[in-house]
Amino acid sequence: MNWIVEKPKQRIVVMTGAGISAESGIQTFRGANGLWENHRIEEVASPAAFSRDPVLVWNFYLQRRRQALSCRPNAGHLAVAELEKWIVSAGGDFLLVTQNVDGLHSRAGSGNVIEMHGSLMTSRCTACGQIFPDKRTDLELPPRHNCPEKGLLRPHIVWFGESLFPGDMERIECAIEKCDMFIVIGTSGIVYPAAGLVNFANSLEKRTVCVNKEAPANVELFDTFIRGEAGKELPQRLFPRKNREGDG
Ligand code: APR
Repeated sequence: MNWIVEKPKQRIVVMTGAGISAESGIQTFRGANGLWENHRIEEVASPAAFSRDPVLVWNFYLQRRRQALSCRPNAGHLAVAELEKWIVSAGGDFLLVTQNVDGLHSRAGSGNVIEMHGSLMTSRCTACGQIFPDKRTDLELPPRHNCPEKGLLRPHIVWFGESLFPGDMERIECAIEKCDMFIVIGTSGIVYPAAGLVNFANSLEKRTVCVNKEAPANVELFDTFIRGEAGKELPQRLFPRKNREGDG
């Protein structure tokens, strides 16, 4: 069986989407009974929705925060975290970019992570701009910051119509420019700019690999497509863990 990553001394960028958290029990966005099914995206994940009804938006995100905190990383998350350790300990470079906001990659042990769409476990003050870890699941809505302006707090999530956080895209593109391989796991490949990163990797003639339960919209852009569930495929195919243990 050939491994996705054969040797550890390499520069690897991995990007994940909701599919890698599906086996932890977190709904994806666009599958059957997807997260958006019972909410119109515009109603809950946009600046306009938040200014129109901050309590509704907070209820939506608190429900997702509670769910994420009650779930556990699955074998797919753990395999990505172990790949990072294997590569870094051999002197290679590794960056994990995730579209997910559930925090499961960090809980699985991943270290060098960019949460490009933000995090359910982080809040931001709309007045003073302070960003801080926030795992509270029971709070008066809409929550206010303890800053002098008593600013309205919002989830530190990139909503539709908003740009990514400053510097993130530059960091991601810089890592892809230097990488040997770009591996994309569990994403439908339809939300930009994340979905465009494989084009960027291709323009630099990087090796591109996709692991997904079904062929994503942009499957033809990948050198290799592995159909399957992350929790099953990654432990078996991501890198030679058996040989690694046998390295002695
Ligand atoms: N293993 C691998 N892939 C899976 C699994 C699994 N167990 N289960 C589902 N998938 C695949 C689906 O086939 C689908 O292609 O994961 C993908 C999930 O796609 P989406 O639900 O569209 O989620 P994602 O691509 O992460 O959405 C991107 O859109 O709504 C916004 O900001 C939100 O970050 C999100 C972005």
